[in-house]
Amino acid sequence: MAENSLSRLAAEFKNFLAAQDEDEFIATAAATPAAVSVASVQPQEPAQTAVPPMPEGETLTVEFPRARAREQAAAPAPVQAPAAKETFSPQQDPVLMNTAQKTAALSELADTIKNCSRCPLGATRINAVPGEGNVDADLMFIGEGPGFDEDRQGRPFVGRAGQLLDKMIAAMGLKREQVFIANIAKCHPMTDPLHPEKHGNDRAPNAGEIACCRKYLEQQIAVICPKYIVALGGVSAKALISDAKSLGALRGRFYDLSLDSVKLPRPVKILATFHPAALLRNPGWKKDAWIDLQMVMAELGLKGASK
Ligand code: URA
Repeated sequence: MAENSLSRLAAEFKNFLAAQDEDEFIATAAATPAAVSVASVQPQEPAQTAVPPMPEGETLTVEFPRARAREQAAAPAPVQAPAAKETFSPQQDPVLMNTAQKTAALSELADTIKNCSRCPLGATRINAVPGEGNVDADLMFIGEGPGFDEDRQGRPFVGRAGQLLDKMIAAMGLKREQVFIANIAKCHPMTDPLHPEKHGNDRAPNAGEIACCRKYLEQQIAVICPKYIVALGGVSAKALISDAKSLGALRGRFYDLSLDSVKLPRPVKILATFHPAALLRNPGWKKDAWIDLQMVMAELGLKGASK
């Protein structure tokens, strides 16, 4: 990367951390002079505060024009369910999409995420990681953000933590392909954004990055509309349950999911448990994670892996 680009990137990153607000960031980033010294950027700890609410008065009308055009071309007959745009209309009660509509809407959303540069992670990622899985899943797992392996493959939970997540899903009696897996942040948050090629360069997304990605995640959840979500780790739990309590305090019960920007077509329950990466570091916590997963299994009538 040329030094000018690095300087620019460092300046944008610094502004972003200072602003902690996407709109403010976009404004300050646009005004950033190109010649800010990299040396002036002080390393900062990621903010661990509660996720800021959506700006007051902001509403989201989600439009999927290409998905709608594709759908109309493929099926000129009258549609049984409303198109994606109507599903998110603030004036109307949202209705569950059918499988084809969900697939089209999620694919369009993934394209948007892959082209996103709302926060500086867009400049340092190798691949955006929108998420993957069964669009009709009853169960969704949501982690905090892609790491090194996920950034390289553009897929969620494919590294060591992902292998453990696969085992957790299998223990519940499910296959990875039966659930949907996504993250709070869609691009790799790095401790050292100037060296994206480095190993061990992972960190949790900060509050501003979470705010930038929030609409994408909320749209994914509203489209898939799973019956249950398992929030993996404190970052995910706090963001989705909108509560700054510790993971320990949030675990052990279901919460009614409430989204800031879209209405859900039906109620979604959310439960918090340990992040698989935390379980790798603290294997003693696995039995508690298993208690959490069994709560979800009981709700979904899952018997677990056959022995
Ligand atoms: N950790 C996460 O939170 N998400 C991933 O996709 C991988 C590791």
